[in-house]
Amino acid sequence: MYGRYLVNFDSSEIEHVETEILSIGGGIAGLYTAWQSARAGFDVMLLTKRTISDTNTDRAQGGIAAAIGESDSPELHYKDTIAAGAGLCDEAAVRILVTEGTDRVQELIDIGANFDYYGEKLAMTKEGAHSKRRILHAHGDATGAEISRVLLEQVKMFDNATIFEQHFVVDLLVKENECCGVLVFDESTGNYRIFWAKAVILATGGAGRVYNYTTNPTVATGDGIAMAYRAGAEVMDVEFVQFHPTTLVLPGVPRFLISEAVRGEGAVLRNSRGERFMPSYHGMAELAPRDIVARAILSEMAKTGENCVYLDLTHLNADRIRERFPTITKTCLKYGLDIAKDLIPVAPAAHYIMGGVKTNIDGETSIKHLYACGENACLAVHGANRLASNSLLDGLVFGKRIVELLKKQKRLKKELEVKKTRFVCEELVDAACDFSSIESELKVVMNENVGPLRTSQRLMQALSFFDRQECLRKYKARNSKEMEVQNMLEVGRLIAEAAMMRTESRGGHFRLDFPETVLRWKKHIILRK
Ligand code: SIN
Repeated sequence: MYGRYLVNFDSSEIEHVETEILSIGGGIAGLYTAWQSARAGFDVMLLTKRTISDTNTDRAQGGIAAAIGESDSPELHYKDTIAAGAGLCDEAAVRILVTEGTDRVQELIDIGANFDYYGEKLAMTKEGAHSKRRILHAHGDATGAEISRVLLEQVKMFDNATIFEQHFVVDLLVKENECCGVLVFDESTGNYRIFWAKAVILATGGAGRVYNYTTNPTVATGDGIAMAYRAGAEVMDVEFVQFHPTTLVLPGVPRFLISEAVRGEGAVLRNSRGERFMPSYHGMAELAPRDIVARAILSEMAKTGENCVYLDLTHLNADRIRERFPTITKTCLKYGLDIAKDLIPVAPAAHYIMGGVKTNIDGETSIKHLYACGENACLAVHGANRLASNSLLDGLVFGKRIVELLKKQKRLKKELEVKKTRFVCEELVDAACDFSSIESELKVVMNENVGPLRTSQRLMQALSFFDRQECLRKYKARNSKEMEVQNMLEVGRLIAEAAMMRTESRGGHFRLDFPETVLRWKKHIILRK
């Protein structure tokens, strides 16, 4: 059957490695689950396809939300998350996120995460759709890098935890709906290896790279979602893609995130005529939910015929701004822009996928022994539109719950054994196509047809592009780049299919031909091969 695996292999002829727990991904969810597993006494291996710092987490600017401020409460955080999620949040999951989230953030502080302080108190900023200042940040706008640093430090303390860099997970090995391990391509040797495990945790992050314009690094190719789907797992809510309103737009420069925290600290948006426009779109103005700000920007761009609007920080204290946002300051300066003096040209770009591999509140997927957490997972905790700075929190809270479940299973001596069985794929043929031009075309197709403003006609165009690529399934991937392209095609097609099905507008999914939110669509789309 074409489309089950990306390469030909016979597990009986490949080097084997065995562990108890396998965490796939080097971002917050992978590092955290590896650390917690090691602490619990499990043998754990963490696989990452590039280097351990080449992740979306490492670039996260804004921060991590937690209801720990004096005038704040998990109840308020709950209400904000539910409101931003546009009717599709799983209420129980959100309750867990906001209550257990405070302990997880405290845990980070306890292990030495250097969050920023104002005097004696933790500094907290505001971001879109939050009713309180509750976003902790580190080194101004380098929160993700600080969290990665402390988690990595913890993982490295344990002899029972091993990190494998340059290990590209090609496919999940699943027999009779039980995950037994993974097939891995070791980039450093050019060899394949099988990693058998009692439990596999997918923590591969996002899929922003299916779009031309994205804040995501090149690693964000939706691998976890694609391989889980190929293996028969249920995938949910993938039509909901969040477009971050403010990414730097300069000719020849890759899109760079200008954190929402910049607006949280008082920056305003102006169109090319210099008019501040957000107050006329929403009562929360620049701090309205992300989907609303992104669409308002697109509407202003359409009105003025320009390819961007402008972030204006010129009325704010220059020294304070440069100190508060050192990464953004440095990056903009590289392109000749002083954020305190110049208007910053910005436009929306793909940032985060709310959907992913469907899990329950303990990270269990529809495949036994396969778990998922972080951006590649979906338990509807973000609904149709994620509240800013809830994603790092999500990785910690639901990563923790997976390891707690595994600990419980171990105590009960239940369900934890390595199952080694033979897996073979031999029907794929040598590729006869140029994957890099297909990748370029895919990104343009996704941007033009499956972006923030969708119509049935545009989605049809996208789906017919994917139909034309179906024949590629018979080819064996020759290297990890081709594997990524196959994964991106899989995920792009899933997004387009779900977006076509959902004939309404809600959160991150907006249909110009169905602009209303309708009650009968207050439900999830679950896709399964
Ligand atoms: C940002 O800094 O604006 C991104 C934060 C997030 O995506 O939650």
